[in-house]
Amino acid sequence: MWEYTDKVRDHFFNPHNVGEIENPDGIGEVGSLACGDALRLTFKLDKDGRIKDARFKTFGCASAIATSSVLTELIKGKTLDEAAKVTNKDIADYLGGLPEQKMHCSVMGREALEAAIENYRSGGTRKHQLEGKVVCTCFGVTEKEIERVIRENDLTTVEDVTNYCKAGGGCGGCRGEIEKIIEKIQSDKIKEAPTAEPRRAGKLTNIQKIQLIKETINEQIRPALRAHGGNIELIDVEGDKVIVAFRGMCAQCKLAEFTMKDVVEAKLREFVSRDLFVEEDKESAQQPHNHLE
Ligand code: FES
Repeated sequence: MWEYTDKVRDHFFNPHNVGEIENPDGIGEVGSLACGDALRLTFKLDKDGRIKDARFKTFGCASAIATSSVLTELIKGKTLDEAAKVTNKDIADYLGGLPEQKMHCSVMGREALEAAIENYRSGGTRKHQLEGKVVCTCFGVTEKEIERVIRENDLTTVEDVTNYCKAGGGCGGCRGEIEKIIEKIQSDKIKEAPTAEPRRAGKLTNIQKIQLIKETINEQIRPALRAHGGNIELIDVEGDKVIVAFRGMCAQCKLAEFTMKDVVEAKLREFVSRDLFVEEDKESAQQPHNHLE
């Protein structure tokens, strides 16, 4: 038995906007009876281009009915541009979540909406068609759709993909290909990842800033220097200027300047604030006890 939220139960037992609009402006049909779920969404616009009415007919489980019902509620009153921004996650979130194995129902809702908008924008001439290479022939799921659910929902396993779009849930013949798509997207994400945001930039008091600088030196910088027989001490912090002194091997190292900028300053900017810059206090290198620690 599935664990459904009260909202899912409510929309299942009392679905809103069931039926079909006569002379609709847009029609979206997705899924098929052969696949076990099917949804037909129709909408009508008002004179300002907002969705005045939306209705659905669906064949499927409690989640399919609840997600379709919520979809019609979410898009009513929106322009088509606004409605197009509704994601499967919005639908699932509105319901307070869905069992993982039922997330494909929320994806079906989003697909039906896109198909209906496309149908309207093409003057009623276009019906939803599979775009791109079909990876899962059992459920007619394309590479594009698999990539999309992986990206939008941060999926990492074939089971996740099956839960969100059914691909892989039949004969299993496409599972290897789905795995390759997941790997490709994960490696793309690593390449695209922006450099880490400073953890608390802009929100720090001076005391917090000094504390965070100390933590960053202790946890991120000192272990790397110690591995090479060196060390570092925090001497002072003046506004955004961090004054430090190298000890041990680092104090004599010809690459100290490089270490100061590319290791010490880079780490402090990454973990504390982008505005920080470091200066070496050569004098205090001779007075090792005059520091902030
Ligand atoms: S081809 Fe995907 S499950 Fe059969």
